[in-house]
Amino acid sequence: MPRPIYLDNHATTQVDPRVVAAMEPYWTEQFGNAGSTSHAWGTAARDAVESARETIARAIGADPSELIFTSGATESNNLALRGLAERHAASSRRQFISVATEHRAVLDPLQRLAGRDFPVTLLPVEPRSAGAHWGRVSLTQLPTQLTADTLLVSVMLANNETGVIQPLAQIASLCRANSDALLHTDATQAIGKLALDVRQLDVDLLSFSAHKLHGPKGIGALYIRRKSPPIRLQPLIDGGGQEKGLRSGTLPVPLIVGFARAIELAQQERSATQQRLDELRQRLWQQIQSALPDCSLNGPAHGLDETGQPLRLVNNLNIQFPGVEGASLMLHTPELAMSSGSACTSAHPTPSHVLRALGLDDDAVRSSLRLGLSQFNAMEEMDEAASRIAAAVAHLRAFKS
Ligand SMILES: Cc1ncc(COP(=O)(O)O)c(C=O)c1O
Repeated sequence: MPRPIYLDNHATTQVDPRVVAAMEPYWTEQFGNAGSTSHAWGTAARDAVESARETIARAIGADPSELIFTSGATESNNLALRGLAERHAASSRRQFISVATEHRAVLDPLQRLAGRDFPVTLLPVEPRSAGAHWGRVSLTQLPTQLTADTLLVSVMLANNETGVIQPLAQIASLCRANSDALLHTDATQAIGKLALDVRQLDVDLLSFSAHKLHGPKGIGALYIRRKSPPIRLQPLIDGGGQEKGLRSGTLPVPLIVGFARAIELAQQERSATQQRLDELRQRLWQQIQSALPDCSLNGPAHGLDETGQPLRLVNNLNIQFPGVEGASLMLHTPELAMSSGSACTSAHPTPSHVLRALGLDDDAVRSSLRLGLSQFNAMEEMDEAASRIAAAVAHLRAFKS
């Protein structure tokens, strides 16, 4: 049986062959340890790491000294939240504010901190009646929660289930105007897709990883603002003192080189890729809608907000198929690789907390599926996917009635 059409690009992406080619020499010919700089093997590895750090930092408007390599966005989020809390363990400024639709890699560390006497406030998102702002954090509620005791506000840039993009620059100005709160963003889904500049966004900490942008798994980074104000974190992993003592462990040079190449390609090709993804998504959505007029999109329609910012990721569809269980639909479409929510929450078999926060009831959540496209998808795959979904929905409905 041929492999299913891959429509799960929010979970992970295919590594671009050009990224594989860039990594290749660092497995074999250039296998040195970047920390062993007493010989040429080590210095070559160190130079490759520093050149990659420069490329990645520049891609987000940061200075290379502001970037720490980690194993992925989960670790970056943990380091940002728990590392900051540890640093402020003795301070009265210890409140964390975040949003109900965050990834578990933010919510779970926050839960741990709440258990250690760090007050945590989770803001709701706008309901369906907010139209284009459906799924965005409530900008009227945020200022009411910010106090002199707020240590950090953590708001993801783009959601991994709905693709909803948060108005981060507005959130940053609210933080600056109402308190000294620092701002962290989980930019894992946005990186490579949105033009992103840490100074323009005015964030203090930013987490991301390579495998969502056609880079390798197991490598991520945390941007840590160096000045005005300098952000200090407590390391979570101690050992050899790599990454300025903030994240000990031998650096995975091939993965770092691949990360840099992936981000470089994403940047160079962003506008053409976005255009193509827009065409693919429109085609898929039009076909699904014309076959199944009663299905609907969870979250706002694709488009721009009043400031010109996109409302959701161009490659995302999160669709509700009334009267059909998403899990059954997936079982009846083995030719398609889709998902009923976040891959990273498969250990939590509860209905999506993201869709619940958007105001969907349990039935609506269970009848929803997430589709995520990439530039490696073909237009014919969109037609094929839509007709497979339509046939499976018709079959399941006929079976039910
Ligand atoms: C928004 C978001 N944050 C964090 C993560 C975790 O990233 P990683 O797999 O690099 O640890 C993911 C992965 O699904 C994600 O989508």
